[in-house]
This record gives sequence, C-alpha cells and structure tokens, in this order.
Amino acid sequence: MKRRDFVGLAAVSAVALTGFAGTVARAADKIKIGFLVKQAEEPWFQTEWRFAEKAAQDHGFELLKIAVPDGERTLTAIDSLAANGAAGFVICTPDVRLGPSIVAKAKANDLKLVTVDDRFVGPDGKFMEDVPYVGMDAHAVGQTQGKLLLEQAKARGWNLADTGAIVNSFEELDTAHQRTSGSIESLLAGGFPKESIYNAPNRTTDIPGSFDASNIVLTQHHDKKHFLVIGMNDNAVLGGIRATEGAGLKPADVIGIGINGTDVIAELEKKEVTGLYGSLLLSPNVHGYKTTMMVYDWQTKGTVPPKFTPIRDVTLITRENFKQKLTEMGMM
Ligand code: GLA
Repeated sequence: MKRRDFVGLAAVSAVALTGFAGTVARAADKIKIGFLVKQAEEPWFQTEWRFAEKAAQDHGFELLKIAVPDGERTLTAIDSLAANGAAGFVICTPDVRLGPSIVAKAKANDLKLVTVDDRFVGPDGKFMEDVPYVGMDAHAVGQTQGKLLLEQAKARGWNLADTGAIVNSFEELDTAHQRTSGSIESLLAGGFPKESIYNAPNRTTDIPGSFDASNIVLTQHHDKKHFLVIGMNDNAVLGGIRATEGAGLKPADVIGIGINGTDVIAELEKKEVTGLYGSLLLSPNVHGYKTTMMVYDWQTKGTVPPKFTPIRDVTLITRENFKQKLTEMGMM
C-alpha cells in the first residue's frame, strides 16, 4: 500500500470512528420515555401515540411505544424500559387493578410514571390518587351523550313509548361506568322511561363485545320501533349500531353518539348514512402530548406533575363537521 493511500484510509476510518462514537454518545444521551397502551389497535390510542411522538420530536427525546394488552406484557414492558435506560413512562393500563404492581415495578426501576385515561385502583378498591393521572370528566361527557341522544330523538319526532335505549356497559372500568351512568341520568332527567333502558354488559371493550351484548338486548325487545345506542366510547356504540342493522332496523330508526371521535372517521365517511349520528370528540392530542411532556419535564426540570389533570374539551362531531373539526385539531 502506498503511504498516501494508507493516510487516506486512516483518515476515513478516523472519521467513521468518530462519527460512530458520536452517534452512540448522542443516542445514549437522548432521554427515552415509554408510552404504553392497552389497545394499540384502537385509533384513540394511535392518536395519543401520534401526539406523544410529536412531543418527542419537538423536544428531541425518544419515544418508546409499547402495546400492553395484558398484565404480563405490561410488567415485561416496564422491565425492558428499565433495561433500555428510559427515564419513565406514560401508561393506559389494560387492567386498572394492576396499579399496585405497576407502581412497585416503576419504583424498583426508578422510572417516573404518569397514567392516562384509566385511573389505577388500589387493593382497597379506591383510586390510587398519588399517581399522576390525566383524564377527562367521564361523568359529564356521559351526561352530554344522553342529552344529545334525547334531543335527536325529539328532533326526529319519535314517540318515546316506542323507543328503547341500549346501554353498552363495562362496569369493571370506572371511566366506563361514569360515562354510561351519566348518559342514563340525562335520559331519565329528560323524561325517558326507565323501563325502556336496557343494560347490555360488554364482555370486551371492542366492537365484537358491544355487538354481541347489543344483539341480546335486540332479540329481547322486538316491540320497540326506534333505538338509542349508548356506550363508553366509539367502539361500544359502533358494535351496537352494527347489531341494530343485523336486527333489520333502518338507520333512520337508530341514533348512536360515540365518545372519542377518533374511531368513527371511517363510519362518518361511508356513503350511506348509518345509525351513528356522531361522536363526542375528546382531546387525544392533549392526552398524548401533555402526559409525555409531564414525564419529560419531571426528568429534565424536576417538575413533579399534578396528581390529577382533568381535560374538559368536548366537541360533537357529525357528518356535517367532522372533517373540519378533526383537521383543526390535526387529526385528519
Ligand atoms: C378509555 C377508553 C378509550 C378512551 C379513553 C379516554 O381508556 O378505553 O377508548 O375513551 O378512555 O380517556
């Protein structure tokens, strides 16, 4: 090898080496924050992730998105976050009763922890109020759902005596209970007959879960001409809508209003109008961005997040305005 070539090669490798070492150092320096969600297939959680990712880009940290559909995978994910040197994580747990184990594992690994959407429940059955939590006012949103459903029924001139209300319930989860009970309260306050409100306990919080439960109600109540469909989120209502279609009801005889707003886009885009009138759009952008920033600011500035951060904005989206509203919020 000629000397000139050798020098050239050495220089190249030195650059390559420094470059590599630099990358390693930068990657190691970069703060890592986990974002763990119970139902990664749900657009709601994908939207939270999207905005958490935006926080990471805006502030130059790394986001580790992990799907945690069950307890085992939740605890393993926390271990792997620790092994990866993460500073902390945000979580919507697959089961609120995992709260104590999640807190213990986070503490053991010195990871900062913020919860979102579903609040941890302790062994005494009470909320673990010491763990920072970001969530919406579920009862108020439920009340709005019931109120709007009744307004629509009246606007269509329905006789309430011919109308049934299917309540897709999921009592294990407090936020679900708050929403559906709030909705029922509004129906009753508006004069809807109590005996026409039918409970449809969902086994799972997805479309098949609400579809099956709503089907059972529909087979028992052939006498009703119209139906209102209640549920804790978009999927809980969409399954109910599918069940009314299966039972032969026309879209004009069904009114469903979801909660989330993120999971009804395909439905509202359908050419044919369905029984889904609209949805109460919450703020998954805020849920995703704010919670992640809480962990980041805690790590970088020592700002301890508040124990409870309520998120209150709710917008009714329908076929008429959903594109505009979702675009305004950067979700379309
Ligand atoms: C729960 C539901 C989600 C969404 C959030 C909102 O986690 O499962 O679909 O409604 O609450 O906080």
